Amino acid sequence: MSAAPAVEISSLVKRYGSLTAVDGLSLEVAAGTITAVLGPNGAGKTTTIEICEGFRRPSAGAVRVLGLDPWHDGARLRPRVGVMLQEGAGFYPGARPVEMLTHLARLHAAPLDVEMLMARLGLDRNRASSDDRERGDRRERGGHLEHGGHRERGAPLRRLSGGELQRVALAAALIGRPELVFLDEPTAGLDPQGRRSTWELLDELRSAGVTVVLTTHLIDEAERLADHVVVIDAGRVLAEGTPQELTGGVPDDVIRFGGPPRLDVASLRAALPDHASVREVTPGSYEVTAPVDPRLLATLTSWCAANDILAEGLQVGHRTLEDVYLELIGAGRGGR
Ligand SMILES: Nc1ncnc2c1ncn2[C@@H]1O[C@H](COP(=O)(O)OP(=O)(O)OP(=O)(O)O)[C@@H](O)[C@H]1O
Ligand SMILES: [Mg+2]
Repeated sequence: MSAAPAVEISSLVKRYGSLTAVDGLSLEVAAGTITAVLGPNGAGKTTTIEICEGFRRPSAGAVRVLGLDPWHDGARLRPRVGVMLQEGAGFYPGARPVEMLTHLARLHAAPLDVEMLMARLGLDRNRASSDDRERGDRRERGGHLEHGGHRERGAPLRRLSGGELQRVALAAALIGRPELVFLDEPTAGLDPQGRRSTWELLDELRSAGVTVVLTTHLIDEAERLADHVVVIDAGRVLAEGTPQELTGGVPDDVIRFGGPPRLDVASLRAALPDHASVREVTPGSYEVTAPVDPRLLATLTSWCAANDILAEGLQVGHRTLEDVYLELIGAGRGGR
């Protein structure tokens, strides 16, 4: 018997005045999985997530989170659900991360270890130095403060960088050992190392049976992390499935290569078999879409040779999640 879904959204609608931000969206999140919600700016990701978190009220439709209604059962859900907001949490700007996380930990029955979590998220580098206070407030000075190697764990939140605040917000979402976490763009603004440690942490959460719902603009993040990817635009689900399902549905392969801009793609197209298509994706960057076999590749390189073109970085590959995503969004926009 499969477990009940951790999140069930059916025919959700959210209107802001005359704007319909979420337009009949339905979605199920299986317990113990990572679901990534992808979509362009303004697609309705944050609105949907914040309705699931109980921060916004649906205009129509139904949402169940761990079997409860987030708008009415907020008090029962709060201890079980971790939340990381896109806008950053309403933290006390004067509090230090360790103080805030220790405070939050006390509100939970079985919190994670604050020190461990801070170490995992790179928030423990270098303790506060005695000259902290002399540095003043970064914002008041409005300028650049030399860190001088001190990424102090003792600095108050208002003095942390954007990426450091992101890490604190993630730690705050996880500290209570939630069954389910909603993370709105958890790795936005993080450096590659921070992104990697976040991914590792989320992988471990999944292994521990935690359900994760995250939004992202990073397609490689969705591909790398998610069991289930949901592409939304204009408040509707355009496509969903595992990354393999989304990229595997279409048999076409692609050949990508670089060359001088504005090649005669019609001439190349004419040289290739009928079912092949050719386009200049960006100036000087070309894509041939067709089932790729050695003969097709030979025809392509012969055409290049005949036209004195050195095809740079020629690559044969399958469609990526990014290809699928851009097509979906493009098609959605074109259809409006
Ligand atoms: N409180 C609000 N009042 C009015 N309109 C809003 C409000 N919140 C969001 N919107 C509008 O709803 C639409 C969806 O916004 P939402 O924040 O859900 O998008 P998003 O997918 O999270 O985008 P992003 O990728 O930029 O974070 C947008 O057009 C936005 O302007
Ligand atoms: Mg958003």
